[in-house]
Amino acid sequence: MTRKKIALIGGGNIGGVLAENIAARELGDVVLFDVVEGLPQGKCLDILEGLPVINSDSHLKGTNNYADISGSDVVIITAGLARKPGMSRDDLLNKNLEIMKSVALNVKQHAPKAFVIVISNPLDAMVYTFQKVSGFAPNKVCGMAGILDSARFRAFVAMELGVSVKDVHAVVLGGHGDTMVPLPRYCTVGGIPVTDLLPADKIAKISERTQKAGGEVVELLKTGSAFVSPALSAISMAESYLKDQKRVLPCAAYLGGEYGIKNYYIGVPAVIGGEGVEKILELKLTAEEKQHLDASFQAVKSLIDSIHL
Ligand code: NAD
Ligand code: LAC
Repeated sequence: MTRKKIALIGGGNIGGVLAENIAARELGDVVLFDVVEGLPQGKCLDILEGLPVINSDSHLKGTNNYADISGSDVVIITAGLARKPGMSRDDLLNKNLEIMKSVALNVKQHAPKAFVIVISNPLDAMVYTFQKVSGFAPNKVCGMAGILDSARFRAFVAMELGVSVKDVHAVVLGGHGDTMVPLPRYCTVGGIPVTDLLPADKIAKISERTQKAGGEVVELLKTGSAFVSPALSAISMAESYLKDQKRVLPCAAYLGGEYGIKNYYIGVPAVIGGEGVEKILELKLTAEEKQHLDASFQAVKSLIDSIHL
């Protein structure tokens, strides 16, 4: 069996953590692409020189040449600006839209069979842009956001209850922004509904903290946004594809009518396996939950419609 090849487009904060973790887990060989000369090469050399310490034989190549991503099985895209304090993710649209169009055409040329995971923000608009510009099958393109947002909810619940994160499961629907929709009704702790374990006001506070968790890190870091948790989240998607794990993961997937949404990307529970996004799971929502999802979709739709692709 040939070694898998994972191309990382963007060698910044998230790209570096992706390269390091993929290599450490021997998930595949890594090609790290960036437009800044020396940046991907230096990061790959540093990681390579550490791999003997952890007995990993993954290969890594840093490059400024798209031809080096040729034949990649998976492409993970972080190319673009990250927000600074006071900025919303939507503020990144104009600059990152042009970058994503260029990335899409290059990935189409050099890795047309890849499964593509978009991370760049504003996420829902960027993943939509990649799919439209590249012409890739919609199920071979998805966005990483829901896993991160759900992991944040899980982490906050585990902290509040003093329990292992392993036993906390949660799902966050909708766009990757302040309108995202945490669903406490679907959060369980060792199979027990969290609504049986925490009072409504505590759960509401956890939901609100989840919606604003990205901004909380941005305000603390001052120089950029979260980068370890997003990288770990994207790797779980890549692994589910490469190993055909059929994991149920919340991610920005192309909807063809599910949840009453058609021809847009938005965060929903999806099955990721060797064919890409293989199934969308439709949750039964209360009227209030559906209202929140519709509001989140409207925020995503208006941003996407504003770019006139
Ligand atoms: P970063 O600034 O550290 O890295 C971005 C990299 O992209 C830089 O190295 C830059 O040189 C490179 N780049 C710029 N233009 C490029 C191009 N045309 N082709 C290839 N590379 C190019 O930023 P980061 O912290 O790694 O974040 C990357 C993106 O991910 C940002 O847009 C950020 O908002 C987004 N993000 C999304 C999530 C999510 O949940 N979806 C989470 C965190 C960050
Ligand atoms: C942010 C990431 C988490 O911009 O999307 O905060």
